[in-house]
Amino acid sequence: MSTQFDVVVIGAGPGGYIAAIRAAQLGKKVACIDAWTDDAGNAKPGGTCTNVGCIPSKALLQSSEHFEQANHHFAEHGIEVGKVKLNLDTLIGRKDTVVKQNNEGILYLFKKNKVTFFSGKGEFAGKAADGSYSIKVTGKKEETLTAAHVIIATGSQPRALPGLDFDESQILSNDGALRIPAVPKKLGVIGAGVIGLELGSVWRRLGAEVVVLEAAPDFLAVADTQVAKEAQKAFAKQGLKVEVGVKIGEISKTAKVVTVPYTTAKGEEQVVVVDKLIVSIGRVPYTAGLNTEAVGLQLDERGFIAVDGDCKTNLPNVWAVGDVVRGPMLAHKAEEEGVAVAERIAGQHGHVNFDTIPSVIYTSPEIAWVGKTEQALKAEKRDIKVGSFPFLANGRARALGDTTGFVKVIADAKTDEVLGVHVVGPMASELIAEAVTIMEFKGAAEDIARICHAHPTLSEAMKEAALAVDKRALNF
Ligand code: FAD
Ligand code: NAI
Repeated sequence: MSTQFDVVVIGAGPGGYIAAIRAAQLGKKVACIDAWTDDAGNAKPGGTCTNVGCIPSKALLQSSEHFEQANHHFAEHGIEVGKVKLNLDTLIGRKDTVVKQNNEGILYLFKKNKVTFFSGKGEFAGKAADGSYSIKVTGKKEETLTAAHVIIATGSQPRALPGLDFDESQILSNDGALRIPAVPKKLGVIGAGVIGLELGSVWRRLGAEVVVLEAAPDFLAVADTQVAKEAQKAFAKQGLKVEVGVKIGEISKTAKVVTVPYTTAKGEEQVVVVDKLIVSIGRVPYTAGLNTEAVGLQLDERGFIAVDGDCKTNLPNVWAVGDVVRGPMLAHKAEEEGVAVAERIAGQHGHVNFDTIPSVIYTSPEIAWVGKTEQALKAEKRDIKVGSFPFLANGRARALGDTTGFVKVIADAKTDEVLGVHVVGPMASELIAEAVTIMEFKGAAEDIARICHAHPTLSEAMKEAALAVDKRALNF
């Protein structure tokens, strides 16, 4: 006998668990299935984000930043701590505790919202005459669920280099890179994207010599060029070596080291020998074991579940959200899609504004942006005005002792509508929220400039950059 649900969600990452909660809030009978467990078989809902992504990486970034501050910056504040000692087991253990708190938080939210949680693997088992779907769950016990609506939120997995599987001991994906048992002397990173920069920063701060090899000719080409340049300068000063425009050769490993031959942008042959190698060259959608063939669910040419702008698949009442569908692979994008799909199922008009999804890189300095870059707007031949304000001229940043970077506001030359905001500097991840709000309301630079910002705060740099659009910054 199978249990009947209005909505069955496959995957309890940020896309899936949030969709399940929202559907339950809207009065639906909801089940959520997730396969992630610890070694003892205990459920660990939260997906990549909670287990091996956003949350543990931010925990390590915080701890390693404290270590960096204690080692190199406390003295500037007159605090003498002597020789600072690292206890890596405690540092990694704290990260594991933070992850566990989040796993438990999701289980609590399921209970609170009356979402029935199944720990196990979900797969399509067929379609009934009434149009409902049969979903088989294989976990500690086997069960079959019947669903009027199915939301697929199975996420993504790291892309490996051809012929170089992850062993998580020497060749590390994000998973192994978050639990290296001893700080490597020399750490190689392939790919200077978000993971390469964040996790490269963690291990550099903890004492590793880090070399990042990037195939693209420009550093951080997704960001505004001025921001990328400022960040590159800061990373170089910290000792994070990034080489762009390289072509990676055939990587080999012995029990002790990994050898990475590569051709530089100038065509020179080089070899770097490292203790561990993080491969962070992007992620691919995860659909293995879903048995999509049983119901004829279509994938696109890159292996993503094919969906329209509303996250509808080719099958009636089957939806897909998050990393397993097109668009940026970000937790908040997955969540927004999850909410919108749950609302559509309930007959409401859920909406995701893809133009105002913020991007954040949690390095030091942090990098955050929303909307278009100056380069993209110029390529579109848009008539724009640009205003920037450096943190060097911001009182709070000076008090913090963290004055790297700037805020840049780009507005339409005629209407003054904000088209893009780019921040590199302290707390960029938090500052960007104001810009997202303004852009969501199609606000103008003048709107930011006229809002009263508390003093002294970093957010005043946002106001000053908006004033600078009209060439009337007050403090610079
Ligand atoms: P996932 O989080 O991948 O969850 C999918 C879940 O589905 C998993 O639990 C999986 O076990 C389960 N599953 C798969 N198949 C089945 C099946 N057949 N049956 C049952 N369960 C199944 N994004 C940000 O926005 N901010 C960040 O700071 C950030 N940091 C990151 C750091 C790292 C190191 C990495 C790797 C990623 C980071 N991301 C970040 C990206 C973010 O983790 C993803 O965009 C997000 O997790 C996608 O959510 P999702 O729900 O689509 O999929
Ligand atoms: P990424 O797409 O950010 O970066 C991959 C980098 O690898 C690119 O710069 C690319 O040019 C380079 N590359 C690709 N193939 C290469 C090769 N053969 N040799 C050398 N370089 C190569 O992907 P990443 O860092 O793996 O992260 C995956 C996803 O996870 C990201 O798309 C991001 O959305 C998400 N994420 C988000 C975070 C955040 O929001 N703060 C943090 C970490 C990950």
